[in-house]
Amino acid sequence: MTIRYLFAVLHLLALAIGIAAVYARWRALRNVKATADLKAVFLADNWYGVAVIIWLVTGLSRAFAGLEKGTAFYLENHWFIGKMGLFVMVFLLEIYPMVMLIRWRKALKKGGLIDLGKTKLLTRLTLAELPLLILMVCMASAMARGL
Ligand code: HEM
Repeated sequence: MTIRYLFAVLHLLALAIGIAAVYARWRALRNVKATADLKAVFLADNWYGVAVIIWLVTGLSRAFAGLEKGTAFYLENHWFIGKMGLFVMVFLLEIYPMVMLIRWRKALKKGGLIDLGKTKLLTRLTLAELPLLILMVCMASAMARGL
């Protein structure tokens, strides 16, 4: 019961951290005018990474380690399938920003140059993830109540 409760709390905390981080990364990307402005982008991106790790660890344990309704329930639940579909879409939207931000972090460490022209696309992709994450919350609540 304690683990079940703890994982439910952590799962929801990841939601707060994740939504705030995506919004913060979008705002920071919008305001990038020079390389120094990327510091705020990287900070928000770090928190997004933290949220994703917590989501994956707690979500997969809750779904498939018998913490909640059991594997069979979730695999047959259309809300769960929809929620996971949205998660995959978020991941697909995140591939380009993830690759670019990793490259930029490495380039900055080596004192290299960065093409800031790419921030426009990263800003749009980051914003596109927000409604999908919110839709995931709607599906999660329907799933939890067996609608
Ligand atoms: C691999 C990723 C994920 C998995 C496997 C997963 C799985 C789960 C499971 C099994 C539950 C418990 C539902 C129940 O009580 O029967 C849950 C609840 C919840 N999940 Fe996720 N989740 C994941 C990611 C996310 C993400 C990214 C979000 C938000 C954007 C999210 C939002 C929620 C919310 C809000 C609840 C609570 C629903 C409620 O009690 O009303 N989950 N999730």
